[in-house]
Amino acid sequence: MSNSTVAVPVELIKDGAVACLYLNRPDVLNALSDDLIKTLADRLEEINSDDQIGCAVIFGRGRAFAAGADIKGMARATQEEMQKSDRLALWNRLWKFQKPLIAAVHGFALGGGCELAMGCDIIIAAEDAEFGQPEILIGVMPGAGGTQRLARAIGKYRAMEIILTGQRFSAQNAHDWGLVNRVVPKEILESEARGLARRIASQPRLAVLKSKEAILRAQDVELAQGLTFERQLFYSLFSTCDQKEGMAAFLEKRPPQWKNK
Ligand code: CAA
Repeated sequence: MSNSTVAVPVELIKDGAVACLYLNRPDVLNALSDDLIKTLADRLEEINSDDQIGCAVIFGRGRAFAAGADIKGMARATQEEMQKSDRLALWNRLWKFQKPLIAAVHGFALGGGCELAMGCDIIIAAEDAEFGQPEILIGVMPGAGGTQRLARAIGKYRAMEIILTGQRFSAQNAHDWGLVNRVVPKEILESEARGLARRIASQPRLAVLKSKEAILRAQDVELAQGLTFERQLFYSLFSTCDQKEGMAAFLEKRPPQWKNK
């Protein structure tokens, strides 16, 4: 038997109620191979059903968050193969994650890397982070949500220029345009992201899940429909112990003890 350990493409480290996921192909700037995306989806599904975990964070190991889909893995593919394998449909498993998901971005977040960050719920960027959708420079276009999510996040006109030129943009620009929540020095990226995740994980879980669900719905439906959906979720929380506890604690002027039920 060999002693050599095979590096896993995504490492999961649990830190109390926070799950930290590390994209782990540093030699290729965490290029997002099908295997990596599948492993990430497997881990997220595992975290989804882990009652101990209230929030997850994705980090990149090495000098990048992720420099995009793995070009090597698709350079020679034909249209027929791409369509038949529908490999990007794998990514839909990521977007089904129900708990809050934070992207902690340093270095490059390009192509699929930028799309992965944008598919998270909150983005924290290190000062050195560089975002972009450079697919045009290799003869294609974004395929894992870039045209849709970037346009929604920063507006049609900026998204158009970025996608059509492939130009990268800085963490500061991303922040100014509303794509990232905050920009922090690289040395504290990990502690900031874990700190925020801990804070979210300490809130009553069911109210967190329903809030996320309602906010995501805001992107897809017109306001009247979104308001009805939100109201129904709001009412549904009155079947939880945490609603009784939260409101009783407020009236009794004491801190609440969440049961996550
Ligand atoms: N796929 C496969 N390998 C990649 C990669 C990718 N997306 N990005 C980087 N790598 C590899 C490089 O081939 C290189 O490997 P070797 O050492 O074996 O040659 C290694 O990572 C380090 O990269 P560089 O030597 O190029 O590092 P650099 O600092 O000079 O440049 C970079 C960094 C500007 C990010 C450059 O690597 C680059 O332009 N990468 C490609 C970015 C890109 O086009 N992303 C979009 C991919 S398509 C996509 O994502 C489609 C989609 O929507 C799903």
